[in-house]
Amino acid sequence: MAERRVCLVTGGASGIGEACARAFVARGDIVIIGDIQDAKASTLAQALGPKALALRLDVREEHDFENACRIAQERYGKLDVLVNNAAIIGTLGPIASIPVEEWDYSQAVILRSVFLGIKHAARAMTPKQAGSIVNVASVASLMGGYSPHIYAACKAAVVQLTKSVSLELVEQGIRVNAVCPGNIETPIHTGVTDERWKARMAKIRDLHVDEQAMPRMGQPQEIASAVCWLASDESSYVNGHALVVDGGLLAGRPWRQQPAFLREFHPTRK
Ligand SMILES: NC(=O)c1ccc[n+]([C@@H]2O[C@H](COP(=O)([O-])OP(=O)(O)OC[C@H]3O[C@@H](n4cnc5c(N)ncnc54)[C@H](O)[C@@H]3O)[C@@H](O)[C@H]2O)c1
Repeated sequence: MAERRVCLVTGGASGIGEACARAFVARGDIVIIGDIQDAKASTLAQALGPKALALRLDVREEHDFENACRIAQERYGKLDVLVNNAAIIGTLGPIASIPVEEWDYSQAVILRSVFLGIKHAARAMTPKQAGSIVNVASVASLMGGYSPHIYAACKAAVVQLTKSVSLELVEQGIRVNAVCPGNIETPIHTGVTDERWKARMAKIRDLHVDEQAMPRMGQPQEIASAVCWLASDESSYVNGHALVVDGGLLAGRPWRQQPAFLREFHPTRK
């Protein structure tokens, strides 16, 4: 039987983070659900049983990461896996309208958080010379037009930070990878409160689904499967990688939307 690992999931109370927490526990691991949604995190931890612990963790706060890593070590003796998952859509709108404070706030939740998580997980993992860090990026890391500006810039930086840090930490036995989800059915899409943007978000979401070869949104468990694989020894030769899980969105235009002459068979050999 595989060794029981200790896994910290930020933003673990909802959506993809929740699916990761469930998947780790189903595998027999211990999971620390770090989130600012205290009640949701506690309810989930209770439902998952003694292998789950809910912890207040605001990813903007360095002290909260220090605390989470300390608890992992004191309570369970180690930290094996960190999933840097928490994020928000951040500020929307045209570039000329974005106040610098909005940039700073969104950036702190989406990008600086990943730096803080890696920093403190690396400190906790280095003594054992083993560990796996998975950063949740996005298709927006790789292509423009799928998200607001700050989100896109920060998620692109998450992928580059993953690659850069993976080169250093692999020498301590720690692998660092990223997952780039496509359109996944989670509260992140419905959490935008401004009514004007709510309608627009719904439109953008439908457009993406229409544009992809697999015409449906993904489910959080479909991202959790990729995260669990990257976190496990089954991916032992994978490092500094950004794994796209998007139903084929970035692969290109769906076959059904291609011109008829391309879809029909025309023999070349006479
Ligand atoms: N859903 C998608 O279509 C999609 C696509 C690409 C990438 N992603 C990424 O997946 C990850 C998870 O998003 P989701 O779709 O599950 O959304 P979600 O809103 O369901 O979950 C995000 C979680 O992060 C938490 N969070 C927000 N701010 C926090 C903070 N300051 N400190 C701690 N926790 C905080 C929230 O409370 C929530 O539980 C994010 O990084 C997101 O950018 C999602």
